[in-house]
Amino acid sequence: MSVDEAKHRAAAAAILELPPTGVIGLGSGSTARLFIEQVGELVAKGSDYRAVPTSEASRTLASAVGITLLPDEGPWNIDVTVDGADEVDVDLNLIKGGGAAHTREKIVNFASRRNIIIVDASKLSKRLGEKWPVPVEVLRFAHLSTGQALSRWGKPTLRVRGGAPLVTDTGNYIYDLATGPIADVAALDSELQRVPGVVETGLFVARADLVIVSEPEGVRRLTPRDPRVKTPVSP
Ligand code: 5RP
Repeated sequence: MSVDEAKHRAAAAAILELPPTGVIGLGSGSTARLFIEQVGELVAKGSDYRAVPTSEASRTLASAVGITLLPDEGPWNIDVTVDGADEVDVDLNLIKGGGAAHTREKIVNFASRRNIIIVDASKLSKRLGEKWPVPVEVLRFAHLSTGQALSRWGKPTLRVRGGAPLVTDTGNYIYDLATGPIADVAALDSELQRVPGVVETGLFVARADLVIVSEPEGVRRLTPRDPRVKTPVSP
């Protein structure tokens, strides 16, 4: 099974979790994109869903497939948000922000009664930071100073696209902070949040109610009460 097929299957499994009607938070990234397309198919068949997008890319796609979007200002009454992730640890903490959308994603996640994360098995790790740096969104003002401050916790690299710093949908820059395996995710998140200039980190601590993992054998559902350590996927 290709990675794309795995992502498609995870997205299809998340569709089965949706209430019959209501407000959906739409994540960002290639897996969330497949989910949005499938929500669009339901809307085309008459389902009454409205949505809150977490990025301009998700907004554009959702509009194109006919999903009614709520104003950005909030507040929203979100029933469920479905989003991807870059890394998922055994406690279902997440690293997000590979698509530079983690600030909006975190806001929508917090506004949502239920959060479902859809991933392929390559995203699983024992400890966050094993596979992926922590994206840290920072203000452009004094970003070199903020980046320097981040070096206390790892190796920060300014994210660049096309020869220039990548500017997020919220108008900021991103430093990808290579930390190595993180011993205490909540503590690191709090410490990073205290650095002036930091807008948001890509660490999502205990923010997933269900993680749907697509594996060659099928789809596995992980919940905080069913820790993965009991049924390890890989050594
Ligand atoms: C965007 C994200 C994405 O959800 C994350 O990068 C996963 O993306 P993909 O599904 O393409 O692997 O956090 O900010």
